[in-house]
Amino acid sequence: MNEYIQKVNELKEQSNNEINAVNDAASLRSVQEKHLSKKSPLSGMMSLIKELTGDERIAFGQSMNDARKAVSECFASKEKAINDEIIKNKLEKEKIDITLPSVSYKMGGINPFYLIQDEMIDIFTSMGYQVVEGPDVESDYFNFERMNIPANHPAREMQDSFYITNSVLLRTHTSPAQAHAMDAAKGQPLKIICPGKCYRRDDDDATHSHQFGQIEGLVIDKGINLGNLKATLELFLRKMFGEKREVRFRSSYFPFTEPSVEVDISCMECHGKGCPICKGTGYIEILGAGMVHPHVLEMSGYDPKEYNGFAFGIGIERVAMLRYGIDDIRKFYQGDVRFIEQFTRK
Ligand code: FA5
Repeated sequence: MNEYIQKVNELKEQSNNEINAVNDAASLRSVQEKHLSKKSPLSGMMSLIKELTGDERIAFGQSMNDARKAVSECFASKEKAINDEIIKNKLEKEKIDITLPSVSYKMGGINPFYLIQDEMIDIFTSMGYQVVEGPDVESDYFNFERMNIPANHPAREMQDSFYITNSVLLRTHTSPAQAHAMDAAKGQPLKIICPGKCYRRDDDDATHSHQFGQIEGLVIDKGINLGNLKATLELFLRKMFGEKREVRFRSSYFPFTEPSVEVDISCMECHGKGCPICKGTGYIEILGAGMVHPHVLEMSGYDPKEYNGFAFGIGIERVAMLRYGIDDIRKFYQGDVRFIEQFTRK
């Protein structure tokens, strides 16, 4: 019987020696197969138990259990050592060198048109204006007739239009948004702005584009006067351009306002001296405005004896040009990343 136990101990020693000699995962798998499977020499010893009885049988069984436990523990500790080594090597290889320069990703920028549009919207919403939208494709009725510009009115020439059909066109200004807003308000007071794109068959030059943005503003209530309009525009201009910029209010003409004004700002290039960009005038026009014409109020369901109001239309690119010193309106539309990426949100 002692021989059997001795043999078990020898096989245990042999298994453990072979397991301990292994240094990689593949060899570990083959020693596992050889020494820990049912076909291992140690497991094979179990068949001898049939020959034993009583205490001998118990002692032999105990030695088999101890041997198998010892080989399993030896294997588990080897397996752990090999896995730890694999993880250590992997971590070593994947170590990040934080002193290396990083890969640079190009971020692009926001077109200054939208930076200024957002800023203008912020200024007016802080004054209590509600933002509304209007369609780019507009009917002749809303673009002209509701703005007191009937067919054959000479003012239609002021805004050469892109017609889609005889009665549908790309809006030439954001003013039709006034009529839509007044219709929706059903005779109630109003205080809205409408930002959007406009389209005219203007020849493109440094300050004119066939496609440009405007922000329309409209206030309707009882007792509104020209002083309210001037104060509103002056507050907007101060917030947008600061105190130092030269501002000029000029009387003007629009069929949908009476009286009408236009506002010019000193040129960003020559600061009032006169240059090719401002066509020698020293100023750039940024907006048209005025008191809403009584006929426009009437067409929109307001009694002009009870209600009146003011309206304005501000050119977005012109404001952005004066704010950032951009010398050509075409730059907003050429998609040149070198131009666009100079502007970042404050
Ligand atoms: C109008 O469009 C009127 N609807 C503005 C208005 C609204 C007056 C409400 C009274 C009451 P005007 O054509 O002047 O007006 O254009 C207004 C502003 O839009 C101009 O001052 C200018 O800043 C901008 N603008 C006009 N045409 C162009 C263009 N071709 N390219 C770039 N900006 C333009």
